[in-house]
This record gives sequence, structure tokens and C-alpha cells, in this order.
Amino acid sequence: MSVTVTAFAPGRVNLIGDHTDTTGGLVLPMAIDLGTTVTGVRAGDRVVLESETEPEPAVVALDVADPAAVHPSWARYVAGVVAQLRPAVGFDGRVTTSLPVGAGLSSSAALEVAVALALGFDGPTVDLAQLTRRAEQQASGVPCGIMDQLASAAGVEGHALLIDCHEVTVAPVPVPDDVDVRVIHSGQARTLVGSAYAERTAALHEAESIVGPLRAIVDVGDLEPLRSIDRPGLLARARHVVTENARVRAAGDALRAGDARSFGQLMVASHRSLRDDFEVSTEVLDALVDRLVATPGVHGARLTGAGFGGCVVALTDPGALDEGWLVRPSAGARLL
Ligand code: GLA
Repeated sequence: MSVTVTAFAPGRVNLIGDHTDTTGGLVLPMAIDLGTTVTGVRAGDRVVLESETEPEPAVVALDVADPAAVHPSWARYVAGVVAQLRPAVGFDGRVTTSLPVGAGLSSSAALEVAVALALGFDGPTVDLAQLTRRAEQQASGVPCGIMDQLASAAGVEGHALLIDCHEVTVAPVPVPDDVDVRVIHSGQARTLVGSAYAERTAALHEAESIVGPLRAIVDVGDLEPLRSIDRPGLLARARHVVTENARVRAAGDALRAGDARSFGQLMVASHRSLRDDFEVSTEVLDALVDRLVATPGVHGARLTGAGFGGCVVALTDPGALDEGWLVRPSAGARLL
């Protein structure tokens, strides 16, 4: 008799610290109470998954060689996990999700992590995140960092996660009960994320070839160590990362102290840095952040995730906003 397996993996929203994970910097995301469920039986010699949101199923051979060439495109993420995990037995089941797809809440990471657990991954959380990160890179060709998969895998109920992406350590920080975290879609689909993301990441590695690891520059007073970067554009990319790492550190302290006001100010500064130095915002995102920040009871708001459209996250007094999704810091991926 085959046993039904059900795996759930949450999406994540990043409160602060974007485009810092690819250089081993700091991020502060939280797993949310929206996510993806994979249910079915371990059987057969391929992985077959129907999805409630997709017209065509994923059908993946256990020896799939090139996940990026699989069709339909959502099945590439399933194929990436199969290629990384190489389960001995296939799977027959279905995928359901409460996450908006492509909004910047890590729907692909949630799918990968849930599939890995459903297919039988059994090991430390960090290994689950590393494996599914490689699956994402293989499936999409995007040189992503570890934040999304690790937040989904390692979420803690009631906590945000202060993650050091170099050491790959997770420090849960309680989110006070008297604040709301809201995610608001800009209405703008994310565009060019893949190529622009890769270009930004390459720029950071180029900057590091000149000044060494950006994560090691912790004195942001005068940014002296960045002076040897003589191209203003490249300097600005590096400056975003160095100042963002400092903001994440300060935001972790503010959260621990229950200081929503300071946290909100750091969020706004983060958005400006992503807009002006890293140049991954859009006019629509900027206008949304400006409008939210001008609303009474809103402590701060910023684009969240890769940028170029997608969502904004806001920290508010309870009930100050009624648009978008009210999300709660939630536990990480698990078998149900
Ligand atoms: C995407 C990537 C992450 C991270 C963010 C930006 O979500 O998958 O690794 O780099 O963008 O912070």
C-alpha cells in the first residue's frame, strides 16, 4: 500500500536586506503564512505533479539531465530539485498554493522546498536550503543567493530571521505583537529580473575583486575602503551592499528592542538605496512606497525581493492599512 505524503513550504517576505545575500551579507526575512503544498504518493520512475494554477502538469524523469530545458516552464523548478536530489523512487501528486506567483514572495523557493521534502529529502535545514538553491539556479539560470530557500526552510513562528549568508547561520528575532507586516503588490509584473539580477551580481563580484569582500566593510562612516573603485556606477552598487548590511544589523537591534519607528526608518533608507544606488526600483514602486509612508500609522515601507516590479512590504501599527496581504511570521517547511 502506498502512503500519502504531504509537504508544506511557506513563502517569505524580506523585511530588509536585499541584494546582499549573493556576497554573503545579511538579510532579515520571515517565512509567512502563505505557501505551497505538495501531496501525493512516492511511486513510479518519474515525478508527475498536477498544479491547480497551471494548465499543464510537470512530468520529470528521475534522470533528467537539463532542468532548464523542461516544459512547461514551472516544471523546471521541479526538475531542478529532482536533478539535485536524485530520488530513487518517483512521485505522483498535486501542487496547491496560497502564494501569488511571481509577486516576489518566493513562490518558486516554496515549490522547490516542498517538492524536496515530498520526494524524501531528510537532513539539516541548511542542507535543504543549499540543495533547493542549486535547484533554482539550475532551473532558472539566475545566480540567486540563499535567502529565499533558507527563509522557507528555516522559518520560526512569530519570528523574523537574521541570516548571515556567508556563515549560513539563522538567528530568529521576535516580531512584536503590536505591529502589522503588510505586503502590497505594485500591480507591476516583475520584468527582466533574470538578466538584470545576473548583471547586478556580476557587478558586485567585480567590486569585490577590487576591494575584497563587501561583507567585511563594517564601518560605513566614510566608506573609505570603497574609494579605490573608480567607476561611479560600480561604486554605487557596492555602496548599496555595504550600507544595506549595516541597515540590516541596525534593524535586527531595533526589532529586538521593539522599536518599530527606527525599523521603519531603516526600511525607507533601504528603499532609497535600492532605488538610487542599486537601481532596481521602478517609478511605480517608488510612488507606492511614498504613498504608504505618508499614511498615518505606517512606520516604513520598501520594495522587497529582487525589485523591477512586484511587491512592497510595510511595517505598520495594527490595522493602519487594509490593502494587500496581512502576513504573519510563520514556521518553516515541514511534512504534514
Ligand atoms: C531574489 C533572490 C534572492 C535575493 C533577492 C534580493 O529573491 O532569489 O537570493 O538575492 O532576490 O535580495
